Amino acid sequence: MTEFSERVEQVSISGIREVFEAAGEDAINLGLGQPDFPTPRHAREAAVEAIESGAADGYTSNKGTYELREALSAKYGRDYDLDLDPEQFIATAGGSEALHIAMEAHVDHGQEVVFPDPGFVAYDALTRLAGGDPKPVPLREDLTLDPAAVEEAITDDTAAFVVNSPGNPTGAVSSEEDVREFARIADEHDVLCISDEVYEHIVFEGEHRSPMEFADSDNVVVVGACSKSYSMTGWRLGWITGATRRIERMLRVHQYVQACASAPAQYAAEAAISGDQTVVDEMVQTFRERRDLLLSGLDDIGIEVPTPHGAFYAMPKVPEGFVDECIERGVVVVPGEAFGEHGAGYARISYATATEEIEEALEIMAEAYDAVQ
Ligand SMILES: Cc1ncc(COP(=O)(O)O)c(C=O)c1O
Repeated sequence: MTEFSERVEQVSISGIREVFEAAGEDAINLGLGQPDFPTPRHAREAAVEAIESGAADGYTSNKGTYELREALSAKYGRDYDLDLDPEQFIATAGGSEALHIAMEAHVDHGQEVVFPDPGFVAYDALTRLAGGDPKPVPLREDLTLDPAAVEEAITDDTAAFVVNSPGNPTGAVSSEEDVREFARIADEHDVLCISDEVYEHIVFEGEHRSPMEFADSDNVVVVGACSKSYSMTGWRLGWITGATRRIERMLRVHQYVQACASAPAQYAAEAAISGDQTVVDEMVQTFRERRDLLLSGLDDIGIEVPTPHGAFYAMPKVPEGFVDECIERGVVVVPGEAFGEHGAGYARISYATATEEIEEALEIMAEAYDAVQ
C-alpha cells in the first residue's frame, strides 16, 4: 500500500518561493509574478457593494454569475471579434483553476501534454496530476514557441498542447503567423490547444492574437484571468472559455472542486472587465518604461536578452553563478531551471517593481556579473 498517490508524489512545490526566502527580507525582489499596482477602485467598490448588500453571500451559479459571463462575452466580442455565448464561460479560482479543469477534463491516464520549456510551472505539475505525461518542448533562440516544434512533438497519444503568449517566464509574444499555425495544428491533428492568455493585455509591441480566432474546429480553449490585467492576483478570479461540449465537461470538474468562484471576486471582476480600461493602458505604459530601463541596464552590463514584447518579465542568458551572486547581494531573480530543464543558464527577471528598485538592482547585478566573470 502506498501512503500517497503516485501522481502527487511526482510533483513538488515550486522552487520560486525558496529563492525569496534565501534572499532575506530587505532584498530587492525581481522575482515577483504579480503587478505592483492597486486593483482598480471601481472593481474594489463593486465587491464592497456586493458584500454590503448581501448579494455576494451565497453560492452563485456553478459557472459564475450571468452578469459576469455576459461581461466576458462582450469582452471577447470587443477584443477579438469572437461571438461567444455567456454559457461558454466558467468563472474559476484564477487562471490556475482554469488550467486544472482543462487538464482534468481532457487528459487521460498516460496521454501526453505538450508545453513550452521554459514555461509556466503549472503545466508540468497539472499534467502529472491529471495522470498525463509531460512533453516539454524547447523554445526558439528568441524564446518564442515554434509551431513546428509543437507539431513534431505531437503523437497519437497527445491529448493537448499548451501555448502561452505573452509568456511567463519569457515575456515573449507569439506572432500572428505562429498563432495561426497553432490553430491549424489543433484543427489538423484534432488535438486540444489550451491557450493560456492571462497576460493578454500586457503587450508593448505588436498585437496579442488568440488561436481561438483562427481555428476552424472547436479544439481551442482559452484561459484568462483578472490577475495580471487588473492587478487582482489576490482576488483569485479567472475563467475558461471554449465550445459548449468542452465547457460542460470542465464544469463537471469545477462543480466538485470549487462549486463556484468566490462571489465578491466575481462582482469585482465584472466591474473590472466591463469598466474603464484606461487603467490597463496606464499600467502597460509603466511596464513598458520599466522594461526599457531594465533592457538598457542589462545591455550596459553586457547581458544579452531577447526583447520581451509582453508580460513583465525578461529572460536573459546569464553566466554560471550569477543568480546565486545576485541573491547573496540582495537581489532576487529566479533561476531559469525553475521553469523547466531548458531554462537552465537563464534567469527570469520581473520588472513588476518600482523604477528606483530596478535602478538599484541593476547596480547590484553589475557587481554580481563582474564577480562571476
Ligand atoms: C502563464 C500563467 N498562467 C496562469 C497563471 C495563473 O494565474 P492566476 O493567478 O490567475 O491563477 C500565471 C500566474 O503567474 C501565469 O504566469
